[in-house]
Amino acid sequence: MISVGILGGTGYAGKKLIQFCSAHPFVKDFEVYANTTADENLYSLFPDLEGTIEDKKVLSAKAISFDHDLYFLTLPHGEALKYVPALISKGKKVIDLGGDYRLDFEELYLQWYHLEHSSSYLLKSKVYGLADFDKSAYTDVQLVANPGCYPTAILLSLLPLVKGFGDEILSVSCSAYSGTSGAGKSPKSEFLLSEMEGNVKAYSVNSHRHEPEILQTLYKNGFHSPFAFTTHLLPVAVGIYATSFIHLKNNVDETSLQKLYKQSYAESPFVRIRNTPPELKWVINSNFCDINISVKEKKVVVTTAIDNLVKGAAGQAIQNMNKLYGWDESLGILQKEVTYAAFS
Ligand SMILES: NC(=O)c1ccc[n+]([C@@H]2O[C@H](COP(=O)([O-])OP(=O)(O)OC[C@H]3O[C@@H](n4cnc5c(N)ncnc54)[C@H](OP(=O)(O)O)[C@@H]3O)[C@@H](O)[C@H]2O)c1
Repeated sequence: MISVGILGGTGYAGKKLIQFCSAHPFVKDFEVYANTTADENLYSLFPDLEGTIEDKKVLSAKAISFDHDLYFLTLPHGEALKYVPALISKGKKVIDLGGDYRLDFEELYLQWYHLEHSSSYLLKSKVYGLADFDKSAYTDVQLVANPGCYPTAILLSLLPLVKGFGDEILSVSCSAYSGTSGAGKSPKSEFLLSEMEGNVKAYSVNSHRHEPEILQTLYKNGFHSPFAFTTHLLPVAVGIYATSFIHLKNNVDETSLQKLYKQSYAESPFVRIRNTPPELKWVINSNFCDINISVKEKKVVVTTAIDNLVKGAAGQAIQNMNKLYGWDESLGILQKEVTYAAFS
């Protein structure tokens, strides 16, 4: 049984972490730390959670306790740099849901996040926690960089192809879509209902921070071709959808490619290989990543869908927590049976 600290627990991803930690069989207690919402009660911040979690006062992140075993950080980028070195030096386990420790090089961090990295020595020892693809044990790991939401969906949907057919790939173009919760809870006029209802728009074209993160892992797995990535905002609150177009040198057989994906994820309960392109509705509020592969001669189209706050953030973070402690990785996030007293 472990004690957990959630820094930034009053945000969108943090709320999901609270729900997961409340229900997890091996989390004996947790505290929530934040900034402007310190001293407020969880029931007043999240009225919908009343009766489903224990009410608690949010504590100030300025007076963080070092008594917990594991810390989730779900903070705006740059903020984790203030906490992670001290937590690591005190021997704590840390899962950072932000982007501060995902890239391997401080130069890349400066280029894409426009910040000097003050603890770059941790970039090499951290593990990039793409839990469904990286099947290595994490029991000796102290710092996990939880992948971003777009990278989670896109990497899971491309990596089997890249590993199996790296030298055959001429180019990959990826068109990805997110709901507005991907930008967090801070108000910004471009995310107002009056702006987004009935609307779709591309954003951060050729400059999205998730591009180097995606490429870093693709390169490590044998990718060496041109890659294009464009993100769009959808008029929905939650969900990531991505369509990747891959041009190959030679024809490929759809059935063998589907078999390759199924084999790659045979040990991954959260990746579902679909016979038709997935829909957002199939994955919302779940830790699943749904993937479809369609082939026409030398062209491959891979579609994928995830919930950005669960698989793209808190759900994968809980999976990584389970791996850090050597527990079943689906513990607390995959409910296979629901028993209703009235029906039993
Ligand atoms: N949203 C997603 O889909 C998603 C997916 C994957 C990863 N992420 C990453 O996860 C992190 C959090 O995202 P989010 O969407 O949950 O953001 P959010 O809704 O804006 O929440 C941010 C949280 O951080 C707290 N916070 C802000 N400044 C702080 C400080 N200086 N000290 C302590 N707490 C502070 C806020 O608390 P107060 O309000 O009390 O200040 C709030 O609880 C980001 O790095 C984001 O990139 C998000």
